[in-house]
Amino acid sequence: MRRRFVVGNLKMNLTGEAISALVGEVARNVGDHAEVVEPTVVLCPPSPYLFMAVGASRDSQVMIGAQDCHHCSHGAYTGDVSAAMVADAGCRFVIVGHSERRRDHHEDDVQIAKKAHMATEVGLVPIVCVGETHAEYLDGAGLEVVQRQVERILAHAGSDVISSAVLAYEPVWAIGTGLAATPEYAQQMHSHIRATLRASQCDSISILYGGSVTAENATSLFACEDVDGALVGGASLVSTSFNAIVNACRSSVA
Ligand code: PGA
Repeated sequence: MRRRFVVGNLKMNLTGEAISALVGEVARNVGDHAEVVEPTVVLCPPSPYLFMAVGASRDSQVMIGAQDCHHCSHGAYTGDVSAAMVADAGCRFVIVGHSERRRDHHEDDVQIAKKAHMATEVGLVPIVCVGETHAEYLDGAGLEVVQRQVERILAHAGSDVISSAVLAYEPVWAIGTGLAATPEYAQQMHSHIRATLRASQCDSISILYGGSVTAENATSLFACEDVDGALVGGASLVSTSFNAIVNACRSSVA
């Protein structure tokens, strides 16, 4: 079912004390609007801090997610964490297929589909990322590239897995550049993704936009019909900007 989400991806930033404080400040803001059920607010800290962040979020409505999980259930994979471990640490979500993992760890759509499958097997909600590179964008191939990613992930994960996932459209050229997609471009892409999902009856899932979302541009992005929230990197590292994005999303529901 389509719901609104604001997800903070802390990437490889901050350490324990700052993460605890951030979770507390985000929880306080959510708590101030405890009667409001949307958006669901999720913070994804680096894996050594998951357990601690779950503790810091206890008794609040903030949920904790991991930034990745392995596509196998267990085994000799030094440095990796499994979906079951993420769930066991108390997380509810896991990001899979982020473009930084595709780029730095050579992950492909098949592997990402397996990760999404492993996540749902243990009751986690996978946040599945797709998005075109700058070169593909300049070539005018954005819609086609993203459609292909969605179709491949769907084909390998199956519609049962994808219908319980959240999708995040993150144009690679917009991540960390300060150049967010325009609301028009985001809407066009999200509606194209939804049409692609429709063929497998998965079009009622939430589709988040990610890539240089800020307190300043959030309202116009959330006003797009097919944008169900945001995956936020840089602006999630500071509670004031992240809370402002959460509040913008809340206002877009009202
Ligand atoms: P950004 O990152 O908000 O810093 O652009 C978004 C992301 O990579 O999820």
